[in-house]
Amino acid sequence: MKIAVFDTKHYDRQALTLANARFGHELGFFEPRLNTATVELAAGFDAVCPFVNDRLDAAVVARLAALGVQLVVLRCAGFNGVDLAACRQHGIRVARVPAYSPHAVAEHAFALLLAVNRRIHKAYVRVREMDFSLDGLVGFDLHGKTFGVIGTGRIGEAAIAIARGFGMRVLACDPQQNAALAARLGFDYAPLAEVLAHSDVLSLHVPLLPATRHIIDAVAIAAIKPGAILINTSRGALVDTPAVIDALKSGQLAGVGLDVYEMEEGVFFEDLSDTGLQDDQLARLLTFPNVLVTSHQGFLTREALANIADTTLGNATAFAAGEALANEVLPQ
Ligand code: NAI
Repeated sequence: MKIAVFDTKHYDRQALTLANARFGHELGFFEPRLNTATVELAAGFDAVCPFVNDRLDAAVVARLAALGVQLVVLRCAGFNGVDLAACRQHGIRVARVPAYSPHAVAEHAFALLLAVNRRIHKAYVRVREMDFSLDGLVGFDLHGKTFGVIGTGRIGEAAIAIARGFGMRVLACDPQQNAALAARLGFDYAPLAEVLAHSDVLSLHVPLLPATRHIIDAVAIAAIKPGAILINTSRGALVDTPAVIDALKSGQLAGVGLDVYEMEEGVFFEDLSDTGLQDDQLARLLTFPNVLVTSHQGFLTREALANIADTTLGNATAFAAGEALANEVLPQ
């Protein structure tokens, strides 16, 4: 198939080109994100391959259909950027990469947690400035503390296994409880309110859905155990950023590690070092010494990139062969 790959960076081209040696699709790489301004780039292609911050709203989907695009092969797990109803209306099928390396994201959640808790980001800068003092770097033992998990799917499971390895107690909430998993990894399910109240660390591993948007808002934050650390590697809009800023100011949250941010589109993945930030909320977040923000890099391991490329191109091959699309995303 002729596939227009949007929002591509060097590592995307590398992984997709390498995997494509086995699939033989015709790939066109474009740097811009797919949106109303760039949709014409899809002319002449059978499929588009967007990433997390491309916006396939109703207008873009209608234009893609008019251009003859039949398939959307997302090279990510989340599909909140695609208007699925519009795709169905225009007969465009949508497939994603449901799992590529849950370990990549879970391990990154712990990288953020360890760095925020032990102030590694501050220590790194201090030591490079020949400042070997320790004031302000005090953290807490993870061992014996409670790790609260919202969402016990693939990534939540991997995060729980790591937390158990640290000797943490784990409390989790998920409407789809997996008793066998809880018994195997040794954790307890509890209602959200209980998870919030008892966790020293709270890690979010739910998809962005209407029901999970701002699941961490001012009300939820008020119910969190004072002095907890919040980690979000899932989707930015799971948390209400102004409420998180207030909680950092008051000390209700002792630290925050974010790999995602509600308004990350157009900021994350870009080099803005010459232009600066227009977003005052993100700028405020970056002023806190106990906040660490990474630019949506949870997926960025060699293993995950290779798996993403394989599944994405395999989805296109299955579609072209008229086979069942195992990774199809249908309107809810
Ligand atoms: P999954 O589909 O395996 O698990 C999600 C779990 O959340 C399910 O068990 C579901 O029942 C649960 N859930 C749904 N609504 C809930 C609610 N209201 N409260 C508690 N639990 C709820 O998804 P997976 O693979 O674990 O991924 C989770 C999220 O991680 C993705 O949706 C995506 O947004 C994010 N992600 C971030 C990446 C990054 O680079 N930072 C990379 C990959 C995924």
